[in-house]
Amino acid sequence: MKENYKEAFDKTRQAGIIAAGALDEIAKIVSPGTRTDKIDKLCYEYINDHGAYSAPLFYRGFPKSCCTSVNHVVCHGIPSDKTLKEGDIINVDVTALKDGWHGDTSRTFEIGEVSIKAKKLVKTTYEAMMKAIQIVKEDINLGDIGAAIQNHVEAEGFSVVQDFCGHGIGQIFHKEPNVLHYGKEGEGDKIKAGMIFTIEPMINFGNYETKILQDGWTAVTKDKSLSAQFEHTIGVTKEGCEIFTLSKNKK
Ligand code: MF3
Ligand code: CO
Ligand code: CO
Repeated sequence: MKENYKEAFDKTRQAGIIAAGALDEIAKIVSPGTRTDKIDKLCYEYINDHGAYSAPLFYRGFPKSCCTSVNHVVCHGIPSDKTLKEGDIINVDVTALKDGWHGDTSRTFEIGEVSIKAKKLVKTTYEAMMKAIQIVKEDINLGDIGAAIQNHVEAEGFSVVQDFCGHGIGQIFHKEPNVLHYGKEGEGDKIKAGMIFTIEPMINFGNYETKILQDGWTAVTKDKSLSAQFEHTIGVTKEGCEIFTLSKNKK
């Protein structure tokens, strides 16, 4: 690793480990009967206890410490008194801000036994993110990342959300480049060693279209079909990439 991005990688790794650790704790309480604001409280406390700050809290007016997106909610669901029930899927998206640097990660959890179609959607979404991460290295194009995701997802009959994308991240939560989760190989800018960004595909069971609810945040599928998402923050190297938000449990 080149010296000039060692600090950025070290700091992002520290933030990423905290974010992943928060999700590991959250994984233990996502079961039937849990309120989504209980997940928010655990997230807030875990991140504070680890000397960091929950970046979503008050970010552009967002009222909570994490996003909890249930079933047809695509992203940016607001924790509330809503109770999880058997068969739901929920994405929890956590971002830790540690020493001025961000680590951003999310996972979709299954609540009790879920339908075969929900299971397949969640599995395919995770695979799509990992397939994209596996091709990342210096000098590939951003479009290669989008194509890796889109090809896998569409082969399974699902659709890629276009209204939200991955993003550069560092001392700023959301920065250039936009990392689209669809596209064509060879298109888009080339990526360089030292770049840090997220890959966070949102995949719908039905149509790709979304709309925002009255609260100004909650994004849902227009056709009310299920949506799943996974997210990692990664750093590009000459040979590949480092996943900063990997947990001990590997997700
Ligand atoms: N963590 C989300 C992302 O992946 C952003 C959440 S911003 C919020 O980029 F304000 F909605 F919390
Ligand atoms: Co993100
Ligand atoms: Co996120």
